Amino acid sequence: MSIQSSIRRKTAPDIRARKQGEPVVMLTSYHAHTAALVDQHCDVILVGDSLGNVMHGFETTVPVTLDMMILQGAAVMRGSKRALVVVDMPFGSYEASKEQAFNSAVRIMKETQCGAVKLEGGVRMAETIAFLSGRGIPVMGHIGLTPQSINTLGSFRAQGRNEIDWGPIEDDAKAVAHAGAFSVVVEAVAEPLARKITETIAIPTIGIGASAACDGQVLVLEDMLGLSPRTPKFVRRYGDLGPAIEAAVERYAADVRSRAFPGPEHVYDMKKG
Ligand code: KIV
Repeated sequence: MSIQSSIRRKTAPDIRARKQGEPVVMLTSYHAHTAALVDQHCDVILVGDSLGNVMHGFETTVPVTLDMMILQGAAVMRGSKRALVVVDMPFGSYEASKEQAFNSAVRIMKETQCGAVKLEGGVRMAETIAFLSGRGIPVMGHIGLTPQSINTLGSFRAQGRNEIDWGPIEDDAKAVAHAGAFSVVVEAVAEPLARKITETIAIPTIGIGASAACDGQVLVLEDMLGLSPRTPKFVRRYGDLGPAIEAAVERYAADVRSRAFPGPEHVYDMKKG
């Protein structure tokens, strides 16, 4: 057996078993090269449909297609070895019926070989989550702020700020857990509600803008690296790569313009990293 094949990738049941254990570390990646970096430190890599905003410059995730998710999901699988890779089901690929969801999820899993899919919605998607997870497709839920519903929500506002609004979000969390999801992303939900949900349901909650009370955290990689044009207020910056990239491009452009550029003997002398 090669060294490579002896590395065991994390699975949905491994993540499910982390309830009340070591917090789950999750980041997004859309490419083989960032996946290879993220893979060394994360339990889960999410190929999020935020790639529509981050990679493609769309205002929302609504225009993202199944083919886009499959292309980037396969790249992330090639770039990673250890983390569980979860691929988002894009808007329009699963809401019409549980059969539509099954067909889309099967395409994602066959064509990317990822370990799980994620879909948005609580009570309204419970039947679909049960249908998929009962047929060999591990599902991560996504409740609270669900960005694919932006056109009915009207804005990307935090959810459950007043206790009076907690009921439907709690119902969503319970529905997703009872339907068989192995974990659930809780987005933009006030801390006391995120804590209550985390204490109530049996599967790990993975927060984004939902406080440290969750069983794990997820961020969009480009947001925490300072590479996104717009970043939600709650995002903690762990790097500021924009200026470093700009400075490198500036040095490159200056070298090209002053003809201080290496000749072919150097170009073909490949080095690692
Ligand atoms: O698409 C995405 O990146 C996501 C995260 C924000 C959780 O769903």
